[in-house]
Amino acid sequence: MTKNFNLSSKIINNRINGPAFEKSFTHKPSGFLNDLDLFTKGQPFDLYKELRENAPVFYHPPMLSDPEPGYWVLTRYEDIKKVSMNPQIFSSQYSTGTLLTLGSEENRHPKLFKSTIDHMLNLDGEMHLNLRKEHMPFFKPNFVSELQSKVSIKVTQLLDNAEKLNEFNLVKELSQQLPIYTLSEILGIPEADRQKLVEWMEFLELAQYFTLEQIKQNEAGVTDTTPDPALIDMFNNMIEEMFDYGRYILNQKRENPKNDLLSAIANAQIEGEELSPEFLDGSWLLIIFAGNDTTRNTMSGGIKLLNDNPYQKKLVLEDSENIIGLVNETVRYVSPVIHMRRTSLQETEIGGQKIGPYEKIALWYGAANRDPDIFDCPDDFNILRENADKHLAFGIGRHTCLGKPVALMQLKEFFSQFLSRFPDYKVTGDWKVAPNNFVHAIQELPVRLK
Ligand code: HEM
Repeated sequence: MTKNFNLSSKIINNRINGPAFEKSFTHKPSGFLNDLDLFTKGQPFDLYKELRENAPVFYHPPMLSDPEPGYWVLTRYEDIKKVSMNPQIFSSQYSTGTLLTLGSEENRHPKLFKSTIDHMLNLDGEMHLNLRKEHMPFFKPNFVSELQSKVSIKVTQLLDNAEKLNEFNLVKELSQQLPIYTLSEILGIPEADRQKLVEWMEFLELAQYFTLEQIKQNEAGVTDTTPDPALIDMFNNMIEEMFDYGRYILNQKRENPKNDLLSAIANAQIEGEELSPEFLDGSWLLIIFAGNDTTRNTMSGGIKLLNDNPYQKKLVLEDSENIIGLVNETVRYVSPVIHMRRTSLQETEIGGQKIGPYEKIALWYGAANRDPDIFDCPDDFNILRENADKHLAFGIGRHTCLGKPVALMQLKEFFSQFLSRFPDYKVTGDWKVAPNNFVHAIQELPVRLK
């Protein structure tokens, strides 16, 4: 990595091709995965199933006013695994490992665009491994087990507070709070600043929606519809504040390093060079988003699932050993990260479809995790499922989720304390899910504890 290395200015001119070979599957699907409204009812598992059965390697049309061509959608477990395990052919760096498109220049958010690119999820090879290595000590078993005692105390405190409310939005009082606490402990964020992260997360979950609505409005020449321009202003201010804070705290950690992950990131030496300002912004965005939203949505999703499946709840209440099965099955079933992306670097083949160089490929984890070739009766929520932990919700291969042990530890602590204290809790109304096809983002889940 050379001084001031950034990816965002380099990859924008990389070429992306449409399909070089004839499409093997010509099925016309009943819906499209670009339709964010589809995701507000939970993930479109029926559509995933339709695609997996009729067009498991499906060429999807591009997003609205997208200058780039469409992308291949993979819905079969084995295909997604194959792509994830072959980074030499399927790159995360050529045109990001995350974004379905880089979009057109005028639609790029000035700050968010660069920092969604300049981080390790979008690197290949040695550069990726080197940066990943800097993060590793904070996810090792001894670090996680030390963290577990603090997390356990925090869960008790949060439940004590929630008990006083009895009926409330689970997301606001519990699912948002615990991952912020845990992540802040790992990162070394002072207590007084932690609540800001909660607000930033709420706005980040809506980022995709704001961008698409703005494109729609520009295209239609409409100026006074949703989202409210005042809300967009607020969104932009929040984003500004989030990056200002990131720079401020990372600079502090450069000057005065401590034994925490932000100090490790701030002082990472890659090939003898410090991270560029762009990579500091990007690494900040990645860690606060990846470490928060995912666990938070799995917590909320699990509480809803146990409410909807009382027999499964009974199994956990009768035998606390089943908590591990509950955690794995919940992560499989919820699959909070909806997709990741790769780009082919050469002519290749996936599941009977020939693919040319520089074509986009999207990995739909929720679809893989309901593949009946791997999981019996995949749409059943079954905490006794023997192979639940084979799911791909954390990815697989070189970019496998670094935070997996921390996520599993938090989910275990949360579900076990919650269920033993409030075994008769009820979900009392509808959930609200953000219009987002990257993370399954549950914003409201009303519950009554007793
Ligand atoms: C249920 C919770 C979580 C899920 C489902 C999840 C899922 C994922 C997925 C799908 C990837 C990308 C895999 C790929 O591209 O192959 C990823 C990467 C990552 N996750 Fe998580 N994650 C969770 C929790 C966390 C937590 C708690 C942290 C940090 C505290 C975290 C930090 C990261 C980081 C840093 C990466 C990038 C790894 C790399 O590029 O090498 N995640 N995660």
